[in-house]
Amino acid sequence: MNDILPDEMAAWQFLEQAIRQVVASYGYQEIRTPEVEKTALFSRAIGDVTDIVEKEMYTFDDRNGDSLSLRPEGTAGFVRAGIEHGLFYNQVQRLWYLGSMFRHERPQKGRYRRFFQFGAEVVGLPGPDVDAELILMSARLWQTLGIQDKLTLQINSLGSLESRAVYREKLVQYFTAHRSKLDADSERRLQSNPLRILDSKHPDMQPIIKGAPHLGDYLDAESRAHFDALLARLEAAGLAYEINPHLVRGLDYYVHGIYEWVTDALGAQGTVCAGGRYDGLIGQLGGRETPATGFAMGLERAVALLSDVPSNAPHAYMVLIGEAAEQAGLLWAEKLRDRSPDISVLCHGGGGSVKSQFKRADKSGARFALVLDDEGLASETLLCKDLRGEQAEQRLKIDELVSILL
Ligand code: HAM
Repeated sequence: MNDILPDEMAAWQFLEQAIRQVVASYGYQEIRTPEVEKTALFSRAIGDVTDIVEKEMYTFDDRNGDSLSLRPEGTAGFVRAGIEHGLFYNQVQRLWYLGSMFRHERPQKGRYRRFFQFGAEVVGLPGPDVDAELILMSARLWQTLGIQDKLTLQINSLGSLESRAVYREKLVQYFTAHRSKLDADSERRLQSNPLRILDSKHPDMQPIIKGAPHLGDYLDAESRAHFDALLARLEAAGLAYEINPHLVRGLDYYVHGIYEWVTDALGAQGTVCAGGRYDGLIGQLGGRETPATGFAMGLERAVALLSDVPSNAPHAYMVLIGEAAEQAGLLWAEKLRDRSPDISVLCHGGGGSVKSQFKRADKSGARFALVLDDEGLASETLLCKDLRGEQAEQRLKIDELVSILL
């Protein structure tokens, strides 16, 4: 599990601010659910025969002997909370969340055991308009972050549960005919979850997977119409996509349109955001049958794509020269903060030479050093020095400083 250190935070804050701005512009409300849920919730929602449930959950017994797990994703807990609090009953909900998730995977670039997801979920609308809305919302986020050129949208349809059952049969027939060439994992999944074989990363499996029947050829009329209408909405919005007939998802709850935003800038862990429709899940977890759809984005991967991040350094560093200034510094910094909640001032502490104070001012990343000395105390001014640009040094009253700092 990785720590996110202070020098990485400007990028994280920029990303989280952009997320909050974008979800607000679509009218979505926030929900926060616990990091821990009953293990059975995840195995029922995500599927017993998935990598997440079989190999990746942090599972433990609590003091009552109940099996709990750290959440590996947000949708299961979101659905549990919605059912429990009656949020889905005859209502449309457009909600989002941001928080840490946990998967015991082999760590590598872009893959961590504790990672953050931003997710958006819509309940109560059968789509495809709202599926398109979610995809457009994610596209708007890339635009806001300036990373739209690094991402492509891959999309596929898993069809309705009925059409998937027909496809499943075809797939079992196909892979059974190639049984001798299957790796151990795929062999095991042949009966329990043959669709997951399509997602195998095993190099020897790739030619067999390439030849496998396409799900798209087995969609029934309703599934086809749903998918075509989704694609038409994306086209009308001018959003480019690639149909990837081999796209399946690592979680079992999906039906109809599924998608992934992928990049080739991050090596093997190229999926930045993924989602789709999960109409059966609410009913399956004990709620009334209700359509639902959503996506989740990995924050670490989005951060890794950012290039121009606004600085989160303070505006000014206050340098205190002389004993009187050292005593008054704290209050002068307060006076500045009183002028505007947007001003950020780091006030020097701990004494030391002027040189060492300027060293710290430089290290803080602040644009300006504000020097308080005996002369300033007498004339109620601060000496403002531009540490990064060309502005000439000037002695200014606090009110005059505000417009310079902001
Ligand atoms: P997921 O594809 O399992 O879907 O995860 C979504 C995203 O979380 C991935 O595309 C990736 O960016 C990020 N992610 C997953 N595992 C890791 C990891 N170990 N380290 C870093 N990032 C990771 C879901 O979780 C679904 N709940 C999405 C969804 C919401 N579908 C409908 N609603």
